[in-house]
Amino acid sequence: MPKIAPPPGVSDIFPDEATAWLQLESAARKVFGLYGFGELRTPIFEFTEVFQRGLGGETEVVQKEMYTFEDRGGRSLTLRPEGTAGVMRALAGTDAANGVEHRVFYMGPMFRGERPAAGRKRQFHQVGVENVGRPASPGLDAEAIAMLCHFLEEIGITGFNLLINTRGVVSDRPAAEQALAKHFRPHLAEMCDDCRARIDRNVWRILDCKQACCRPFIESAPDPAQFFSAESRDYFKKVCDLLTEQGIPFTVDPRLVRGLDYYVHTVFELTHSGLGAQNAIAGGGRYELTLPGLRNPIPGVGFAAGMERLLIVRDALGVTPPPAPVPKIYLASLGDAALAFNTSFAAKLRHAGISAAIDYDAKSMKSQMRAADRMKAEYVIVIGDSELEAQSAKLKHMADGREIEVKLSLDGVLAALAADAETK
Ligand code: HAM
Repeated sequence: MPKIAPPPGVSDIFPDEATAWLQLESAARKVFGLYGFGELRTPIFEFTEVFQRGLGGETEVVQKEMYTFEDRGGRSLTLRPEGTAGVMRALAGTDAANGVEHRVFYMGPMFRGERPAAGRKRQFHQVGVENVGRPASPGLDAEAIAMLCHFLEEIGITGFNLLINTRGVVSDRPAAEQALAKHFRPHLAEMCDDCRARIDRNVWRILDCKQACCRPFIESAPDPAQFFSAESRDYFKKVCDLLTEQGIPFTVDPRLVRGLDYYVHTVFELTHSGLGAQNAIAGGGRYELTLPGLRNPIPGVGFAAGMERLLIVRDALGVTPPPAPVPKIYLASLGDAALAFNTSFAAKLRHAGISAAIDYDAKSMKSQMRAADRMKAEYVIVIGDSELEAQSAKLKHMADGREIEVKLSLDGVLAALAADAETK
C-alpha cells in the first residue's frame, strides 16, 4: 500500500511507539504530583497577541516560526508554539494575579515552523510545569530545577548537563546592553546579517547566535551579570547554593540567554550528548509575563522538556519502553456455531478485564493461528462443535505449546489462567 506521508516535520505515533510516550506522561504526572502540581489543559490555539505580547515581538519564535491564521470571524489565531503563554493567559483570570501560588503542569503538542531535522519538528510535544503567582524566590527556582532532574531520573535519563545563568531584572539590563553593544560593534563587519540587525534591536540575541563567524566574538564578550545590581547577583548566588546543597551538579554559562524574552533572574537549559546537534532536552527559567489586559506582569518559574528529544536520549541510553499490549487469549472458531459462541465469550472476557481477540470472518484454522501469532496472543483456545458440546476446550500457551483443559465459562477461564500462572 502506498504510504501517504504527513506534512514535513510532523509524525504519526503508532501503538507500539505510544507505550514509551505513555510511560513518560505517567512519570511526569507522578513526579510533578509529588511537588503538588496539578494538570492544566489549555487550548491548542490562542489569540495571536497572547504569544506576541507574552513571548516578546523580537523573539525568533514570534518573528519567524508561528503558525498564524485568520478564523472565519477575522480574528488572528496562532497554534501554540510553547505552553507558558497559554498557561499565563488562563491563570491571569485567577488569584494568581494577586500573588497566590498556582502549581500546574501540562503536556501536549506545540507548533513551530522550523526547518525539520532529527529532534527538530514542526509539531512536537512538550511536558512542562509552571509555578505562577508568588513573588520571585531562589527557593522556587531551585525547586523547579530539582523537579526537572527528578523527572529525568524517573524516566532513566542520566548523564545530562545542567547549564544555568541569570538574566537579572529589567532595571539591570541597560548597563549590560551598553557593554555588550560596545564589545560587538567593532566586529559587526565580520558577523552574520542577523547579528548586525540584532545589535540595535536586541543585543542579547547575539549571545544566542550559533554561526561560526560570530562565535569568537561571543566567546570574548563580557559577562553581562557583572553589570547587574548586587541584589540580582545575590539572588543568583542563592539559587546556585541551593542546587549545590541538594547535590545537583551544574555549570554557570554566562552566554545562556534563552530564546524567549520573558525571562528574568534564573534561566537554565539541560543538554545531552545523546541528542547530536539539537542537544537541548529541556529549558526554562523565571519569568514575568505581560499579557493583553493585564496591568502588572505575573511572576512565575517553570520549564518544558521536548518529549521527542527525551525519547531519542532514552533510546541512545538503551532504556527499553514497555511492550505494546497483546491479547491475553485468541479465540479461534471452527464453524458458525463456534464463531457465535466466541463473539459473546470474547465480550464476557473483556468485561472481566481479560483482553481477547477473535476473527469475525472465521477463516481457515491456519490463518487464524497465523493471526494469533502476529498479534503475539499469549494463549489460544480453539473452539469447534465438539468443544461446544463438551463445554470444554484446551487453553494453549503460545510460547511453549503447553496445554491445559479449560471449562468454557468465565470462571473456567479464570481458574485455568490462575492454575497456569502457578506452574510458570
Ligand atoms: P524552549 O526552550 O523553547 O522553552 O522549549 C523547551 C524544549 O522543547 C526544548 O528544550 C526542546 O527539548 C523542545 N523543543 C523546542 N522546539 C522544538 C522542536 N522544534 N522540535 C522538537 N522539540 C523542540 C519553552 O518552550 C518555554 N516555554 C519553557 C519554559 C516553561 N520556560 C518557563 N516555563
